[in-house]
Amino acid sequence: MEIYRLPALFDNYIFLLHDPEENSAAVIDPGEAYPVLAELKRLNVRLVAIFNTHYDRDHTAGNRELMEAFPDLVVYGGERSRGRIPGQQVFLTEGDRVSFGGRSAQVLDLPGHTKDHIAYYFEPENGVGELFCGDVLFAGGCGRVKEGTPEQSVVALDRLRQLPDATRVWCAHEYTEANLRFAITVDPGNVELKARYAEVQRQPQKPTIPTMLDLEKRTNPFLRWDSPVIQAFTGKRDRTEVFYALRCRKEAF
Ligand SMILES: [Fe+2]
Repeated sequence: MEIYRLPALFDNYIFLLHDPEENSAAVIDPGEAYPVLAELKRLNVRLVAIFNTHYDRDHTAGNRELMEAFPDLVVYGGERSRGRIPGQQVFLTEGDRVSFGGRSAQVLDLPGHTKDHIAYYFEPENGVGELFCGDVLFAGGCGRVKEGTPEQSVVALDRLRQLPDATRVWCAHEYTEANLRFAITVDPGNVELKARYAEVQRQPQKPTIPTMLDLEKRTNPFLRWDSPVIQAFTGKRDRTEVFYALRCRKEAF
């Protein structure tokens, strides 16, 4: 399975999975159809599946047009997305599995950003797993709590933090520069974080996605609620309170 990163809308990424043996493709979160259709044409493959992580328009607005171009494709999303994801046919819950290109992914139920949010985690092949987490976790940051509770959001982040270090994280937005600019203020003594931010500043146009989960565990303040530095910054100890305090500071940043 090959993975292509397609820039879309203003700062979204759509991910295209390509199975060269079957000459087929699947996409994660097509917020618009055009970049997907162009890439399918370039690869000369047919689209067989859309995997949506949640119902926000910037992740689903391309569904209909892609379904018109490929009437046999199957649209997947979460059980709680029912009625909100255009064309959805499969309603996934925690523990379900989906497959594509000889690989299979575990469905993780991660409400918080929205109440229907799920992620797709492909277990490692050649030592590296692939996580498609929509707007739950970003490089250096995380999604806003729009519909769920801070408790749900921190549970979702904890769930992702428990995945193996060698996981490529395919976040749905390029927010890294702004996220790291905030992260530095939270954790100014983190040498690895400083180096990471310097690297992003050095090449501002370079895509930063996918990121690696082990790097996020060490440098993303939203995955480090148990670090004394983050607890001191927020003045809190409880993980939900640490998370909520950080989120409020980020919102005001
Ligand atoms: Fe989004």
